[in-house]
Amino acid sequence: MSTPGLDRSSEATLDIAWVRAQFPSLQTQVNGQPAAFLDGPAGTQVPTQVMHAIQSYLMNANANTCGAFLTSRRTNEMIANTRAAMADFFHCEHDEVVFGQNMTTITFSLSRSIARELNAGDEILLTTLDHDANFSPWKVLEEEGVVIRQVDICEEDCTLDLDDLKHKLNNKTKLVAVGYASNAVGTINPVAEITGLAHAVGALVYIDAVHYAPHGSIDVQALDCDFLVCSPYKFFGPHMGALYGKREHLERLRPYKVRPCTEQIPDRWESGTQVHELIAGIGAAVEYIAALGRRSDGVAPTRREALVAAYRATVAHERRLISRLIEGVQVIPGVRIYGITDPNRFSERCSTLSLRIGNHHPTAIATFLGERGIFTWDGNYYALNLTERLGVESLGGLLRVGLVHYNTMEEVERLLGALREFASK
Ligand SMILES: Cc1ncc(COP(=O)(O)O)c(C=O)c1O
Repeated sequence: MSTPGLDRSSEATLDIAWVRAQFPSLQTQVNGQPAAFLDGPAGTQVPTQVMHAIQSYLMNANANTCGAFLTSRRTNEMIANTRAAMADFFHCEHDEVVFGQNMTTITFSLSRSIARELNAGDEILLTTLDHDANFSPWKVLEEEGVVIRQVDICEEDCTLDLDDLKHKLNNKTKLVAVGYASNAVGTINPVAEITGLAHAVGALVYIDAVHYAPHGSIDVQALDCDFLVCSPYKFFGPHMGALYGKREHLERLRPYKVRPCTEQIPDRWESGTQVHELIAGIGAAVEYIAALGRRSDGVAPTRREALVAAYRATVAHERRLISRLIEGVQVIPGVRIYGITDPNRFSERCSTLSLRIGNHHPTAIATFLGERGIFTWDGNYYALNLTERLGVESLGGLLRVGLVHYNTMEEVERLLGALREFASK
């Protein structure tokens, strides 16, 4: 599916030299070679302004919230500013943004609150394509008598089987939990269509946008989803999670909370003291993306428009990289790609590629690449249902190459050379 607002992607340009200059860690060397960070799906690198924001908070504003003195007031102000930034990122209202430790913790917490409204026999629809963090927090509700159903994949291209989804949706379905994009094979799911189908039977929709967030702009209003969650450390920010929740749900559902904590949203969902310095870093990460957008498209008057422009440029750049990567990998003897390979369908995938080479263990390939300064991932990346379904879990899983906007064509060519060398051993 195409992302709202991204239809001008072929025109967009990305100033890669400027981008790379913002990320000091990209200068890392391994055995005399520059490091190629192709491990973005496990966490991206961080631009200087994020580091400065974290340091500046600790130097100038370090305090708890709601105190009657300067640094506490600064803390409140900083959190409000970051909430406003994330509201632009999600395209929602400020008080519909909830911060939390990470996506997994947020989802476990929300699933328990949603369970308070469910009855035995109610159904939840999950998918085989999802990361386990959008599976296990719902699967545990079987203990309350909730029935879990699971949407299968189309094995040949690792997309969701939408017929199976339609077949399993019914008027007992109370929630559909689905990923925006697969962290394992890069498939972008038609989440707007799925939301429409789910709402037609009265089910809530919980979207895991962790993997999608570095690759495309998010518009919760256009999607009309009930919840959407992501992790700033996957889009150039610090290690935290952030949730969008539709106001009516954040107000109605009952969180597990302490009594003195206010009933106001979003505070009632943010239990305990937050990691303020990292919230400062999230704000700076959003500002970094907006700055990228303004550079790419001189006419982006608002932060929201700048964010959309940034992703237009990102999509165009990443599309070029993944096209070359898939083309180059396909001619290496013994390589099998898992996911969409048809260039005409690249709008249905992001720049994350999983593969196997013959019977080689993915850890052996990742180690070989790592020694050459090329950072990839191997295993199941917690997309356990998928690696089991594909029959590769017992074989060590897959090798994953994750390209983000700071990666270059030179890095792709270097990777292809190393994979050719490995395959010919
Ligand atoms: C698609 C997806 N969902 C969820 C998660 C879990 O996110 P967190 O580490 O913030 O709990 C990840 C982490 O890799 C992921 O890739």
